[in-house]
Order: sequence, then C-alpha cells, then structure tokens
Amino acid sequence: MPSEECFVYITLPGQTERVTAGRYQLDTTRQGAAVGQFVYGRSYLERKDRVEFDPVELKIQVPPFRTTKLRGNFGALRDSSPDAWGRKLIETRLGNPSPSEIQYLLNSPDDRAGALGFGLNVQPPAPVRTFNKTLDLARLIEVADQIVAAEKDPAAAAPAGADAEQAEALMRAGTSMGGARPKATVEDEGALWLAKFPHRDDRWNNPRVEHAMLTLARGCGISCAESQMTTIGDKDVVLIKRFDRNKAEKGYHRSRMVSALTLLDADDTPDTVDKRQKWSYLLLADEIRRAASGSQSKDLPELFRRVCFNALISNTDDHPRNHAILAKDQAWSLSPAYDLTPNPMIALERRDLAMAFGNWGRYANRLNLLSQSERFLLSKEEATAIVDGMKATIGESWYRVCRQVGVSERDCELIRSAFVYEGFGYDLADPTIATDDAEELPTTRPR
Ligand SMILES: Nc1ncnc2c1ncn2[C@@H]1O[C@H](COP(=O)(O)OP(=O)(O)OP(=O)(O)O)[C@@H](O)[C@H]1O
Ligand SMILES: [Mg+2]
Repeated sequence: MPSEECFVYITLPGQTERVTAGRYQLDTTRQGAAVGQFVYGRSYLERKDRVEFDPVELKIQVPPFRTTKLRGNFGALRDSSPDAWGRKLIETRLGNPSPSEIQYLLNSPDDRAGALGFGLNVQPPAPVRTFNKTLDLARLIEVADQIVAAEKDPAAAAPAGADAEQAEALMRAGTSMGGARPKATVEDEGALWLAKFPHRDDRWNNPRVEHAMLTLARGCGISCAESQMTTIGDKDVVLIKRFDRNKAEKGYHRSRMVSALTLLDADDTPDTVDKRQKWSYLLLADEIRRAASGSQSKDLPELFRRVCFNALISNTDDHPRNHAILAKDQAWSLSPAYDLTPNPMIALERRDLAMAFGNWGRYANRLNLLSQSERFLLSKEEATAIVDGMKATIGESWYRVCRQVGVSERDCELIRSAFVYEGFGYDLADPTIATDDAEELPTTRPR
C-alpha cells in the first residue's frame, strides 16, 4: 500500500513560531482508495496550551483518526490546502495534473488560511517572514493572466514542468488560499491582504463590485472583512484584509479557521440528496451553537442577516466554503463575511441560494427567511424588522454605494437585476406560486 506522510505544525494562540502538533499519513489501497490517518503527537497532547484543530472532527483525543472521505483528507487539513486556483499553479509548476493531497500540502506556500502548517521534518522550519508585497502585484497578475490563458488555449501553454524561471514565478504567485478566482496574498502596511484579480471572462469589474458588496453589507450592519481597491496599470484589484492573521512584534499571530464545509461534514459537490441535505444554514446554525456556544447569541442573528443579505443581492454562490468560524484564542466564533457577489438573473419568480434556510428550502424569499427564524435565535418580530429593514436599505442604496466606490454606470446596469428581485416578496401562501420543488427541511444531525 503506497504511503506518504507529513508533520502538521500549528501556531498556538499568542505565538508567532510554530510547534509540531501531529502526523498525517495518507495510504492508497490496492483498489486505489485513499485512507488518511492523523494522530496528535504525545508532546503536543502534554502541552497545557494545546488546542484542537477543529471542533467537530480532529478534537483533542488520543486515538489516531482515520478517514476515507475527501481523498483521505480531514476537513481541517483540507481547509488549509490550496483550492482550485492554488492547485492549478502547483500542478503547472510540478508538471503533474493530479498530485496527492500531501503533495499539494507540501508544495503550497505558508499563506494558508488558519493556523496550521505542513512539512517533512519533525521540527517545523523557521517561519518564512517574507510575503509578496503590494508592489509585486503587477508581476503576480501577469503570472495569473498567463495561467488563465494557458487554460483557455493549451497549445499556447507552457510545457509541463515549467522551466526554472517560470517555476520560480509560479511559486512566488502561488497561494494556499481557497477559491477559484485568481488571487495572491500580499503584505502591506503591516497587514496581510488577499488580493483578488480580474479574470478575462468577467462580465463586469468583479473586484470593484466585490468591494461594493462588502461596503453595502457593512451598511446593513453585517460584520465584514475590511476591503480596499488598488489599481495596477489598467487592472482593478480588490484587497481583502486577512482576518486570520494579526501583525505581532515578531511576525503574525494566526487564528485557527475552519470552513462551514468542515463544520457540516459536507461535500464540495452536493450531487446526491444526502449530500445536498447538509448544505443548510439551519444545520450550520446548529453547529455554530455547539462549536461556538459562547458567541452564539451574537453569531446566529449575524448569520441570519447574511442569509437575508445574500437573498437580497442574489448571491447564489453562498456555498459552505464561503462561511467559516475562527478561533483567535480558545473559543470559536463566526468569521467576518467575505466573498459576496451579486448574480443578476433573468428569473423573477424564484431564485435559490446555495444552502437551505427555511420551510421552502433555498428559495430566496422573505417568508421563507422568516419561517425558521427561531433557529437563528430571533423572534418573528425581530426577524421581520431585520428583513424589512435590509430590503429597504438595499433597495435604496445599492446603486449609490456602487457608484460611490467607482462601479461604472454600465456595470451597475449589468448587475441591477440582482437586487431585491420580485420573487423575494412573493406571498408563498398563494398556491399559484411554484413551491413544489421546495426541499425537505433538514433536521439536526445526531452526534
Ligand atoms: N479576509 C479573509 N481572511 C482570511 N481568509 C479569507 C479571507 N477572505 C477569504 N478567505 C479565505 O480564502 C478563501 C478564498 O477566498 P474567496 O472565497 O474570496 O475566493 P473566490 O476565489 O472568490 O472563491 P469562490 O471559489 O467561492 O468564488 C475563502 O474560502 C476563505 O477560506
Ligand atoms: Mg469563495
């Protein structure tokens, strides 16, 4: 059975240096199935300041953990791995279209979300203190554009196993941060930022519209990642301040970070009824209650506001990797909101968010939002005030906010139909409105 392994390091709360926390081993059976095992090291378990990697799977326990899900990966480790964009860069650099999970972990830079790190030595290497600077953005965008061009036209692609200079450029442009859009981590003004670039297939100025949506969400009382725009040549880039890193005297403090995908024990592709059932804000609310009991009274109404906001801007890309919990010290709590994108659609009657949140499943509708407000610790009256207040704010201000942050008139027209669409206000008691594909209400998962 071929086997690979690596050590897993962690930057503990209040520290800037890493310590070794455990060992991850990945075996492939003769039938080709991947089996992952993780064990916390004894010296780590003996530390008074040890912390769990996540509150649902790799909790502090002595027996080794074993998984056959996710190509043998554990949720908390997968959350630390590069995703579609970062993987593409590694595949190009290695000239290997399908590296193993461990190879992705070992070949990805240490800008990864959260507090974990990976390596082949028992002792963690000294942290690399240099990050790309905002000054490097021009070069980083150039590399990103080349990767996108090569994807579109493989004939023009760099040969597999790019030459040394290209590999070096790819390495510098690489990121362990998740998501599919071209991006890089850069350092500026004593902080780390996630820089999100334009993509040549974008129908409008995505970076600027993302900045506008974060600004609009802030105006709706939602706690959001800080963002600012920067322009490199003729390209707009949105800089999203990393909320999992805080500058300290000797480096960065790191918060642990776990996606809702991990919290829900869910799959990236919800292609079966069972998998789809887990994509649920209601179940997420239950998990947050369990994992973040200290902050649930703040976090659950906040989550409700985000669902409401997503419904009002038709953000149908609100999948479980676009939500996370954070732990700066011991306690977990909901992370600030990020990756908010409007999706202008033709459908006027019904639009569905990615995750279910009420009696009518994912239907982005006012009554659906109100139908399960208690699960978010809100009375009907409180929920009604939030929904109606936000509907008014977004209806009145989306255009002004967009224009204020420089979204063009043309782009505003392109995204206009995303905001406060007609079906949001439909009366679901009306039998003429199609509700037959409403999904069954998910119930709390037994643990
Ligand atoms: N401000 C932030 N601080 C720390 N981590 C962040 C921040 N913003 C995003 N992330 C992490 O980076 C990942 C990628 O960011 P984001 O979702 O914005 O990218 P994307 O490419 O637009 O994603 P998608 O594939 O969902 O469109 C997120 O899933 C989250 O784990
Ligand atoms: Mg995302």
